[in-house]
Amino acid sequence: MTGTLANGPAARASELRELLNRASHEYYVLDAPALSDREYDVLFRELQDIERASPELRTHDSPTVRVGAAVQSHLAKHTHIAPMLSLANAFDDGELQAWQDRLVRIGGRDVTESGYAVELKIDGAAVSLTYEDGVFVTGTTRGNGSIGEIVTENLRTVRDVPLRLLHDAPRGRIEIRGEIYLPFDRFEAMNESRVQAGEPVFANPRNAAAGSLRQLDPGITATRPLRFFGYSAVADDASILPFRTQWELLEQLASWGVPVAPHRLRCKALGDVFEWAHRIEHTVRGSLNFAIDGGVVKVDRLALQDELGVIGGREPRWAIARKFAPDIAETKLLDIRVNVGRTGALNPYAMLEPVEIGGVTVKLATLHNEDLIRRKDLRIGDVVQVKRAGDVIPQIIASVPEKSEPRGEPWRMPRKCPSCGTNVEKDEEEVAMYCPNVGCPGRQLEGLVHFASRGAMDIRGLSYSRIDQLIQAGLVHDAADLYSLSKDQLLELEGYADKGATALIAAIEASKTQPLSRLLGALGIRHVGAMAAQILARHFGTLDAIASATQAEINDVRGMGNIIAEGITGYFGNPAANTLVGKLRAAGVNFSEPRQVAAGGALAGKTVVITGTLPTLSRNQATELVERSGGRITSSVSKTTSFLVAGEEAGSKLEKAKTLGVEIIDEAELRNRIGHSP
Ligand code: IVH
Repeated sequence: MTGTLANGPAARASELRELLNRASHEYYVLDAPALSDREYDVLFRELQDIERASPELRTHDSPTVRVGAAVQSHLAKHTHIAPMLSLANAFDDGELQAWQDRLVRIGGRDVTESGYAVELKIDGAAVSLTYEDGVFVTGTTRGNGSIGEIVTENLRTVRDVPLRLLHDAPRGRIEIRGEIYLPFDRFEAMNESRVQAGEPVFANPRNAAAGSLRQLDPGITATRPLRFFGYSAVADDASILPFRTQWELLEQLASWGVPVAPHRLRCKALGDVFEWAHRIEHTVRGSLNFAIDGGVVKVDRLALQDELGVIGGREPRWAIARKFAPDIAETKLLDIRVNVGRTGALNPYAMLEPVEIGGVTVKLATLHNEDLIRRKDLRIGDVVQVKRAGDVIPQIIASVPEKSEPRGEPWRMPRKCPSCGTNVEKDEEEVAMYCPNVGCPGRQLEGLVHFASRGAMDIRGLSYSRIDQLIQAGLVHDAADLYSLSKDQLLELEGYADKGATALIAAIEASKTQPLSRLLGALGIRHVGAMAAQILARHFGTLDAIASATQAEINDVRGMGNIIAEGITGYFGNPAANTLVGKLRAAGVNFSEPRQVAAGGALAGKTVVITGTLPTLSRNQATELVERSGGRITSSVSKTTSFLVAGEEAGSKLEKAKTLGVEIIDEAELRNRIGHSP
């Protein structure tokens, strides 16, 4: 464990205090954690144990007597209506059982009769959102638990933070608490574009979320795809809160339009909690698109929660975090190798001494680029901390210098492409080095692997080694060649039986119907990641429209910029791309994007007509807003129209709406209904 063993409990306690205080500064203030959560928890407990045995050793600066970290100086402060608490941890069923036993000793049979609400423990940054008469007025970080930092404008940029609560919002002031997080896919895409833009990458989604939240410029926060899950609500006057249990609270949040994390469950008995936690840890966790570090078990009845109270002003007695096995481990960095990406970018990656993280053996980790290796000062032979979270490729957080002596030389990128030997080049604006050879076999292989990957055309069974084999056999040169493969051709290759060959051909065939956004992303156009592909596909609708769009037209699309516009026009201006597109078309691959309708949005089930010139929104923007909230846009007013959004110089549609008695609203009211500020 970190730190050496000191003599006597007093010395050890002071050492632990220092270690923990430093760790929480690194975590909360610097957004650069040096200890894993698990290590922190273990040290924290050791200190708690010492202080429990010898209370005279407890000092005012002990991390056990306060809730969070120091408040940052440059943001204004807000005093929370009620403190934002921390949670004690249970690492296994036995510890949960012990927690319940303690509760029963204090609260008697009421505890077991109340049952529990269990929720995912989102690994993000805690925030508190103040609503007055249902309107979002102030948003804050947790700060030190009693006083938070005001980050209202930043929180307004978080797309799923409701700016106004829907349906029967309580009159008066309430604070909704929850967690700001970054979905894994958004995080990856964001880091990818940061690499392309020559900006430093974020170590993990949690730090990226916390850092984004405390930006002084909300414009920057707005570019970070943050999301929110709510899990609690408090009020000065609790009688305005229309719920009696934690479960009802969650349901109420959801019906106010506050996102609530999935997989929550109401449990009658602790045995159900055990089962839930096992299921989440072993089958659900890996498939989530956001990081969790456990589950939270809460006594369901709120009145009973009040009776059970809080320990030391810090942790509620009535709730506990059920922590999962850590997803960080230490191992040795055996080697740094370089792979040629589909765009020619040279990607360094780490060969690790195999180590088990969260039930999976990890041997490789991504290293992004030379710059990152230099900044983290990773050297071959170092002991490194490796993190794996959900489906994310394992990453090296840092090397552990005190365990890495003697150290090797700083690492340098090779000057020749490891696949074809061509001299590599550095794009002036980018951090990455490139192999400029378009025919480089390494590039072709990676291009196809990307094309078939889960986030792209999702061709099941077309693994890296199978693609390599197809290229080696001369059967496939580009993505379109996949669609002319026959079962007989596969059967001639090593390792294919009838069933496998049939399944692969079927999977390739099925991929033809993927939406345009997938196909566009699958083409591997420089600077066009999954997110950009989706925006472009939704905007233009067809591949032909994208291929013939001008740079200015692409640039005008919300969320797109020059770099992406150049990437697109550069790609489609290339004859080789046109040949490929022609072959894909001939193979019958789908080139269009279905219209998206959000389920369960504020306008779900509503049919909306827009007419006239709106004060700030273009027709396209208004359409997009309505559709994103689940509404359907039609062009003419009828009895089934839910409402008409009318702007300046509205003509016959307005008249018709009046005649039919269809509700007429303006842009401001539309924004209101979907919780969108200008
Ligand atoms: S309840 C009453 N519920 O975990 C205790 N917290 O370690 C207050 N967290 O500061 C928290 N998901 O930031 C609660 N479903 C959830 C949570 C959750 C994540 C975070 C929260 C809290 C920390 C405590």
